[in-house]
Amino acid sequence: MRDLGVILLAAGLGKRMKSSLPKVLHYLGGKPLFSYPLKTARSLKPKRIAIVVGHGAEAVKSACGVNGVAWVLQKNQRGTGHAVGCSKEVFGEFSGHLIILNGDVPLITEESLLKLLRDHSEQNATLTFVTARLDEPAGYGRILRNTNGELIRVVEERDATEAEKKITEINAGIYAVSPRFLFSALESITNLNRQKEYYLTDIVAAALRSGETVRTVQIEDAREIMGINTREELALMEKILQERINQRWMEAGVTLKDPQTTYIEERVKIGKDTIIGPNTHLLGDTVIGERCRIDGCAYLTNARLASDVHLRFSVVLSDCHVEADAIIGPFAHLRPGTRLGRRVHVGNFVETKEAIIGEGSKANHLTYLGDVTVGRDANIGAGTITCNYDGFKKYRTAIGDRVQVGSDSTLIAPVSLGDDAYVATATTVRHDVPAGALVYNERVEKVREGWTKRKRKKMEKLKA
Ligand code: UD1
Ligand code: MG
Repeated sequence: MRDLGVILLAAGLGKRMKSSLPKVLHYLGGKPLFSYPLKTARSLKPKRIAIVVGHGAEAVKSACGVNGVAWVLQKNQRGTGHAVGCSKEVFGEFSGHLIILNGDVPLITEESLLKLLRDHSEQNATLTFVTARLDEPAGYGRILRNTNGELIRVVEERDATEAEKKITEINAGIYAVSPRFLFSALESITNLNRQKEYYLTDIVAAALRSGETVRTVQIEDAREIMGINTREELALMEKILQERINQRWMEAGVTLKDPQTTYIEERVKIGKDTIIGPNTHLLGDTVIGERCRIDGCAYLTNARLASDVHLRFSVVLSDCHVEADAIIGPFAHLRPGTRLGRRVHVGNFVETKEAIIGEGSKANHLTYLGDVTVGRDANIGAGTITCNYDGFKKYRTAIGDRVQVGSDSTLIAPVSLGDDAYVATATTVRHDVPAGALVYNERVEKVREGWTKRKRKKMEKLKA
């Protein structure tokens, strides 16, 4: 087959999104919209890809983050035809096949593009484009045919008559075209339509007028060609993507108790026999081992769990590592830099950050462990706080193996507790504690007999 070039249209604002963010930068499945057709385009291994940008051009470029594409600037958004015309600087002299993709049509597959290309090339066509039949075609350009079923032209929704709006065959916005024809046809189109835009779709009628071969390829799975023009369509697409991903994990041996409320991003990996409860978000590069249990209401971003970890109800984990057999939650927050060893327990209302906690250690209640290293089999009592910040700098706390930290203790960093040290309840630790030592604050405890009764009497007298 001849060389292949791809033009990806991504310059529009997306008025119907009612957003200050360019439409193609809206997130779908954790990635910007335009990255989907771009990935599919790359899978065809084209000689050249040009991306037409305009609204938020710099933001789109930096979101793309990879080289090897030619950026084309469409300064003013005068329509899809004008946008494609701008790429003449890249493809004006190109002699292969060109594929044009809309940046807001994310689910088109490699197979469908190959089918389009095959038909285009085998039939020696000048222009071949993708259509689909939709029960609800509103919003799309409609395919007009004569009574013999021969193509006449594409009419945009906004320019269509009521009768034309009833047509259910729509234009997917995906084309294979000869560059020679394309750039000359684009010079002949006008903006005499409701939107005063130069429509790419007008090249269909132009090609037919000059007797070129124009073909359509119909796609069976209409979801593939769904365009995103509104927030509602974005939400619908999110659901479709999620269903596909969830399906894949269930087929791979993962139990999802409520797939409807389970949100798994594309790069996530999950081991078999893991059971995932409702309202779980697994995002970014999260990796879950085998036989883990996630009870529900869990929000994990770039979290790595080894096997047999149990996340009890309601936890938030970000950029952290958890070794096998650990138990976390309910209501725990593991922040970036947390590394929990095997069998560690982190319980209710415990927050960790840059916390390296050794095998078998426990912090089960109401604790803040920030910038800390904890050895093995230590026990951190309820209400322990590592005071890591003096308003200027952060300092670390080091806690040895088998240390017992009594409830309501404050450890003022930088400070270290040697192995087997024992911190008495409600101690403020300011100085390093040697291995095996007990640390406590001297306080005088006083009891005043009958105090409450006297107090009440006094208060009642004052009231009277
Ligand atoms: C377009 C088609 C319509 C088709 C639908 C499929 C035209 C005139 N209409 O309509 O027939 O059914 O796609 O999804 O082509 N863009 C630019 N520069 C512009 C305008 C748009 O780069 O000046 C880009 C947008 O960023 C977007 C793509 O082109 O990625 C499509 O534009 P959009 O406004 O969404 O076109 P539709 O109205 O959906
Ligand atoms: Mg669109």
